[in-house]
Amino acid sequence: MLTWDDEVKPQSPIPSSGSFSNREVNSPLPQAALDVQPLAQPAIRTLNDGAQVPASQPTASRGAEAASTRRVNAADKRIINGQTDVNQLVPFKYKWAWEKYLATCANHWMPQEVNMTRDIALWKDPNGLSEDERRIVKRNLGFFVTADSLAANNIVLGTYRHITAPECRQFLLRQAFEEAIHTHAYQYIVESLGLDESEIFNAYHEVQSIRDKDNFLIPFIDAIMDPDFHTGTPENDQTLLKSLIVFACLMEGLFFYVGFTQILALGRQNKMTGAAEQYQYILRDESMHCNFGIDLINQLKLENPHLWTSEFKAEIKALFQKAVELEYRYAEDTMPRGVLGLNASMFKGYLRYIANRRATQIGLEALFPNEENPFPWMSEMIDLKKERNFFETRVIEYQSGGALSWD
Ligand SMILES: [Fe+2]
Ligand SMILES: [Fe+2]
Repeated sequence: MLTWDDEVKPQSPIPSSGSFSNREVNSPLPQAALDVQPLAQPAIRTLNDGAQVPASQPTASRGAEAASTRRVNAADKRIINGQTDVNQLVPFKYKWAWEKYLATCANHWMPQEVNMTRDIALWKDPNGLSEDERRIVKRNLGFFVTADSLAANNIVLGTYRHITAPECRQFLLRQAFEEAIHTHAYQYIVESLGLDESEIFNAYHEVQSIRDKDNFLIPFIDAIMDPDFHTGTPENDQTLLKSLIVFACLMEGLFFYVGFTQILALGRQNKMTGAAEQYQYILRDESMHCNFGIDLINQLKLENPHLWTSEFKAEIKALFQKAVELEYRYAEDTMPRGVLGLNASMFKGYLRYIANRRATQIGLEALFPNEENPFPWMSEMIDLKKERNFFETRVIEYQSGGALSWD
């Protein structure tokens, strides 16, 4: 049995600080390695967006040429518009990204590991939940069943190809799989409870408060998914930075929080405990995504300070204000009356509190000074270390269903 304390340790040891960057040229190489010379001129090379082109083809406008035929120097790596070979993970420069990748792998879970029996019995019992509690569950799933697909598409079809740091790409690949696990988890809850799949999966078209949140997000996905969009000009680099901020700070960092709080509040009252357990795993993943996104944004800003203009900051602040307003409307729609000791107006303070935190994490001033957290227990939920026995029922033998055979 694993306890959380065992679980948080990465599966493979993280080398101590400094050992990664020393891997390149500082230690003497064995003679055999010295005999292997890099090819002077490879026939094919890979651009930062994954396209392979003849080595002779000029690619200045696509951002990954020049140094692609010589060995990678960590100091040359950049978050965007890098000129180093994106296929070479090491030498490491962005160790924080690699360490976060290892931490997310150590948190691996699958939805079917969670027992849903009690949830199914409670949902089928006509007196098991109030109508307001049922509305919360359905609205929640209505938002989340498609939200994580949007997040996955944004990573795979948008963000990934514009990021030229391979350590960060490695995290994004893991994040994309986690988004698939989250969509799986929501689908698993819908299926377990026998909900109307069509109603839940179409909520993002049919429920105004959900649609409004998605309509806010979609232009930022579309902008960076456009095949003709490339970074390399201040304007386009700001477009990418804005998209990263919207996703990390406002989608994963704000739009998920009314829903998470509601389902975890149900769980705290011993209702829908299977769903609440799934949401707790998801919340842990999402807070890691949000923190990675914030580190990515801050590193990008550090490398490109010219993007952080006062006009740009004003634009970002306006987006924060709009997102708080949309999430508050979602809170009102999902809780027309008080339920579970919660009501919509409590969320006004909570959303402002979270927005302040996200703003300061990326170097903006707090938008709503002096807001306090009305749900301090949510912080404990994010920090799963406090849940001592959380993993005791976990299945950890992923190979057991299909052992490898070499016969
Ligand atoms: Fe997710
Ligand atoms: Fe996420």
